[in-house]
Order: sequence, then C-alpha cells, then structure tokens
Amino acid sequence: MNKHYAIAIDGPAGAGKSTVAKAVAKTLGCYYVDTGAIYRTLGVHFAMLGIGPKDKDGITRLLGDAYIEVKYTQEGEQRMYLNGEDVTGELRTPEMSDYASKISALPVVREYLLDMQRQIAKEHNVVMDGRDIGTVVLPDAEVKIFLTASAEERARRRFLELSPKHPKLTMEQVLSDIRQRDEQDSTRKIAPLKQAHDAVLVDTSELGVDEAVAEIQRIVQEKLK
Ligand code: DC
Repeated sequence: MNKHYAIAIDGPAGAGKSTVAKAVAKTLGCYYVDTGAIYRTLGVHFAMLGIGPKDKDGITRLLGDAYIEVKYTQEGEQRMYLNGEDVTGELRTPEMSDYASKISALPVVREYLLDMQRQIAKEHNVVMDGRDIGTVVLPDAEVKIFLTASAEERARRRFLELSPKHPKLTMEQVLSDIRQRDEQDSTRKIAPLKQAHDAVLVDTSELGVDEAVAEIQRIVQEKLK
C-alpha cells in the first residue's frame, strides 16, 4: 500500500490493545507505537529523581530534563530510551503503571509528549495505541478502534501477565489497580479516555486473542480499502 495511513487503537488497560496492535502492524509491515510506554518512561525519569507522581511542581520543573527517544530493533520491537539509556525493561511494573496514570493527567506532561507522538505518525505508517490517539493525538487517523473489555476480564489477563514476575501479587490487587486506573484515566480533565465519535467499538470480553485479532484485522482491511 502506497498511501500514508495511521491506525489508532484506544481503550482501557488490559483490553488487549498491544496484542492486536502488534498483530496488525506485523500484517501491514508498519510501526507499532505503544504510547503508554512513553508515559511510563517519563515515570522512570521522575522515580529516579525522587519526584512523586503527584508532585506537580517537581514534575513541571524537571520535565524538560527528560530526553525521550522511541527506537525500533531490526525485528521491529519498540525500545524506550531515557537520556540515552534503554529503560524498556523497567516500564511494565505496577509502580510505573501508577506513575504513568497519575502524571498523564497533567496538561504540561501531555503537551510535552504530543509532538513526539505526532512526529512518529508523520514519518511512518503506524498502528498507535493509547488512550487519546483517536481523539487528540491523531484525530485524522484513517482507522480508529476503541477496544474494551470488562474490568474483571482485563484484571484476569493482567494478572496472568504480571504474576510470573510478581509472585506476591493477588488478583484482588490487580482488579483494584485496574479500577483505580480506569477512574483516573477517564475522569481527568484533559484528554480523558473516551471513544472517538468515529471509532469502531470492539468488546473483547468474550473473544479469545485470535478472535480479537481477526476482528480488528477485518475492520482495518475494510477501512483501508
Ligand atoms: O497503556 P499503558 O497501560 O501502558 O498506559 C499507562 C498509563 O499512561 C495509562 O494509565 C494512562 C497513560 N496514557 C495516557 O494517558 N495516554 C496515552 N496515549 C497512553 C497512556
């Protein structure tokens, strides 16, 4: 396909965004951009500086010291760099989930990361996932999908993903974290998690991974035709 395009996949934590987005990007041979990883990288920056996720003044003051780069390996895997250092391995922890969710509610933080996300989509064909891609970052995306699932099902998936590395974690804890993040992400004043008016809604509660991927592939093919 010669045409330039962007595919936006938004939705709450654990809906399966990254799994389907990666699969679609692989089929199309384009970049997969996980924007949550960008917010998490900023979380690592503040955690390293001892600035808490609610310290608005500290965050505003030290935001400009974070030089964030999104890079790709030869296999197409996204790697996150913070001030020249690869921090990808530190991003997917409950602590960074909380940091990312809290700091992402600050307008100054969203503004700081907006251009970077738009620039990537300008330079490459992308499947980009996040919370506000179809509504704010890429409002003209050719395809917009809002992927969701019940909180219980999303917690079950997150638990299976996290428990091997975090043996003390309980299902109750994961569900409570998911609910808290849903609340934070959807009630913030700026760029809250919400379905774009022109996004296709897909509920994956009852779908297996292969079924969800097939459904999204079908929508993408149809829209990009
Ligand atoms: O997708 P994720 O779970 O890695 O995202 C972590 C947090 O970052 C999420 O709770 C909200 C925030 N986020 C955001 O506000 N906007 C995005 N486009 C992506 C993530």
